[in-house]
Amino acid sequence: MKDFSKRVKDIEVSLIRYMPVLASKVPDTVSLGQGLPSFELPEEIKEKLIEALRTIKDINKYSLEPGLPILKEEVAKYLEKTKNVKINPEKEICITKGAIGGLFCTISSLIEKGDEVILLTPAYEPHIEQVKFAEGKPIFVPLIEKLGWRPNFDAIDSSITKKTKAIIICDPSNPTGGVFEKEDLKKIADLANKFDLFIITDETYDFLTYDEKEHFSLLSFPEVRDRLIACFSFSKKYAMTGFRVGYVVSPENIMNQILKVHDESTICAPTISQYAALFALTSPQNFVQKFKEEFQKRRDLICQRLDQLKDLFEYQKSKGAYYIFPKLKLPIKSKDFSLKLLYKAKVITIPGIAFGPSGEGHIRLSFAGKEKDINEAFNRIEEFWINLKKTFKL
Ligand SMILES: Cc1ncc(COP(=O)(O)O)c(C=O)c1O
Repeated sequence: MKDFSKRVKDIEVSLIRYMPVLASKVPDTVSLGQGLPSFELPEEIKEKLIEALRTIKDINKYSLEPGLPILKEEVAKYLEKTKNVKINPEKEICITKGAIGGLFCTISSLIEKGDEVILLTPAYEPHIEQVKFAEGKPIFVPLIEKLGWRPNFDAIDSSITKKTKAIIICDPSNPTGGVFEKEDLKKIADLANKFDLFIITDETYDFLTYDEKEHFSLLSFPEVRDRLIACFSFSKKYAMTGFRVGYVVSPENIMNQILKVHDESTICAPTISQYAALFALTSPQNFVQKFKEEFQKRRDLICQRLDQLKDLFEYQKSKGAYYIFPKLKLPIKSKDFSLKLLYKAKVITIPGIAFGPSGEGHIRLSFAGKEKDINEAFNRIEEFWINLKKTFKL
């Protein structure tokens, strides 16, 4: 048989998905692994969708390729209200198969063999693999952990070469829970203009920040509008991960290229999910507020539990998203540690190495699950740690 493409062989199997697969063979695990909100689909969305199935005659068909026009109009209104930017819904928005679909179409449209792409690490793992799939070269520039995962501008500056094509920003961040300061975004905008780089943002968690911290979108910076592609999601905000719907916002000339890839790879985002997204956007947003309050409680809880394990973990408090990325105080590889937690404590976590070299020595914990599961996971980790200390006389 002839060989697979090098492009595909070069992609790593995602540890975010691999750990739950391993865990499916271990009975009675509790998960701090995948980022799945525990909530059900809000009742308002459910009811409207059931009604729509009865009354909207084309709900079973493909929509227009870039998405339902009415949904794109609502997205443009949302962006104007929250990010103070006027977007042309017809020409500058594409409804995608989740943010991941938007990122895929964007990265495949812009990146080609030999292009270098700056990734601020720890980075969301699909950003790394999608760049590799496009035959680009990820250039890892570590964030400064001690400063709460802020960018290191000297390091970014010195890693830019003639081949640098783009920088990818994940804000709020999966896996670190960091949220960029407005002044840092301004510096990124200035760098992109100075070196003629595309900026690709992943703003899947734009709604989710803690302690009243504000999230700023680069969409609100007019000076980079012509080089910015922003990817958003309905998955987490509305507990709709399985609906697979998100959107990309970019200037028309870039969108025309993105749409080619979108058409060839997707045809359109699922029409039924686009209606669900429309109902989500146009319903009163009380449920989003409730989700946020719950996530804030869970963030506070996981920090409290980490504080009780100060001899094992050191961490930066999450400011957004629902992940925390503690550093291990043991000389052990992150994958070995996650496997030990899985097999000895029956707790699923994601090894930090999945998120680039500077993720080594850390693990990613998701607090998207219920408080009782977070408590159970930490009870087990505490017991595991006590036994480990006894065994090795630590
Ligand atoms: C940073 C980030 N981007 C994208 C995604 C995928 O989102 P979607 O379900 O909209 O494809 C996730 C999911 O966990 C994520 O954490």
